Amino acid sequence: MNCFPYILTISSEKGGVGKTTLATNLAIYLKAMVPDLPVTLMSFDNHFTVDKMFELKGQPSNGTVYELLQGTQAAQLVLQGQYGVQYLPSSDHLAELYQNFKGPMVLCRMMAESGLSGIVVIDTRPDLNILTQNALYAADRVLIPVKDMPSLENCKHIFALFDQRGIDKKSLSLIPCLIDNRIKFDGLFKDQRTLLKAFAINRGYRCLETYISKSPKVESLNTNPDGKIYPILNHARETEVHNQFTELSQDILTSYHETAEPRSFLYQRWLCEQEEQKKAAFLARLEGIPAHCIICGRALDGPAGKGFFYESADRTTRGFLHSDCFVGMLCSTLCSNVSAGSEMHTLSQQVVRENARESVAVFLPRRDERGDYQVRFLQLDLGGTPLLERTIALTGFLEGLFDGVHDQLYLLLNESLTGYDGRLRNSWLAVHPVDEERPEQVLQEQRYRQVQELHRRVAQLVA
Ligand SMILES: Nc1ncnc2c1ncn2[C@@H]1O[C@H](COP(=O)(O)OP(=O)(O)O)[C@@H](O)[C@H]1O
Ligand SMILES: [Mg+2]
Repeated sequence: MNCFPYILTISSEKGGVGKTTLATNLAIYLKAMVPDLPVTLMSFDNHFTVDKMFELKGQPSNGTVYELLQGTQAAQLVLQGQYGVQYLPSSDHLAELYQNFKGPMVLCRMMAESGLSGIVVIDTRPDLNILTQNALYAADRVLIPVKDMPSLENCKHIFALFDQRGIDKKSLSLIPCLIDNRIKFDGLFKDQRTLLKAFAINRGYRCLETYISKSPKVESLNTNPDGKIYPILNHARETEVHNQFTELSQDILTSYHETAEPRSFLYQRWLCEQEEQKKAAFLARLEGIPAHCIICGRALDGPAGKGFFYESADRTTRGFLHSDCFVGMLCSTLCSNVSAGSEMHTLSQQVVRENARESVAVFLPRRDERGDYQVRFLQLDLGGTPLLERTIALTGFLEGLFDGVHDQLYLLLNESLTGYDGRLRNSWLAVHPVDEERPEQVLQEQRYRQVQELHRRVAQLVA
């Protein structure tokens, strides 16, 4: 069974506001308060505070957050750390991943498939790069530490990111940090915290009642002769900050317990529904596809194989063609002016054959000024750039007669574009090469979308 962890992300575009202190210490408090609760910590920043604080010497590592973001399951990478907290080793190569990271919801999916449970705490870099965005969108709860007006101003970018994707902002809350209680103001806003909170609320941000005071004792925990980073829980119990962390952790535990369906679960369920819809759409496209090749009339499941897919612009007819039938048809259509049996003819046929697999053929019937049918033939490369254009007279087509040269073309058009009245519909036909091993793949979501994109380009071209 899948586990779906609850994700707590600490984020702010400003450095030095207390993100890492919050992330690392919260992990310790949460674990200490509920010893049975799995708590996992990771950092997307390139310093190694997490490792320095939690490392238990001598543990073999399978990789770092870099490997996680490259696709390794989190459960394969976590190490048991100090204070009962699990952690993922940090990496200073994460910047290499920014460029090609596949979208802002990747981490949410990775968390759904992480094999982790309980609470995952994510510390982020002081910017909104793609990894931070992923950590924000994956989170059930985001804490945004603010210590002064500039850091409060910066919050708007995080809120804007949520607006952009239409995500509910109720997971976001500001927490005043590094509050110096000695500073007092006259008037309504008597201290730093009250002032920050008032400004936050004025801007429509949720701001926690709990805050974190500035404490020389806390500050000294990562500057000592041992070069260690000590946790507040064990080394600064006597401070106000200890009580504040306890209160904050209690608040997080409450929302953890109230969250029956974490975001990673909801996203996974949404993905499954999408998959189901795609499958249903694929089956609907397959339905009604003829079992025979409309050029030769023979079954398609024989040894000759399906080499091409056709669909009319109005999407009312679609199906597969034998490779040889379609290429044969193209050869007789395009090489009809070269005398059969000549070296030129063989050469032309070879070119047509090779081009057929690299291009899309479009047949656009129309009437000439005398009312006779002709077909505008276009060949485009797979990106939709026109390569070749011809006009082919469909002599006798209207009367139901073959002309001895374009017979296969007549059959193709007759079977695919004829309307109820026996006349050609006001549409056109496109023929696409398909993977002969897996021809039906052309009807699957992604590939079919490419087909439709190409049809849109053709429609613009022929308009
Ligand atoms: N409550 C606190 N009181 C005093 N100093 C703090 C407190 N929280 C953090 N600091 C100090 O502030 C500095 C920045 O904190 P840090 O957590 O690294 O911020 P960020 O991750 O946002 O850059 C560090 O030197 C840290 O020791
Ligand atoms: Mg930090």
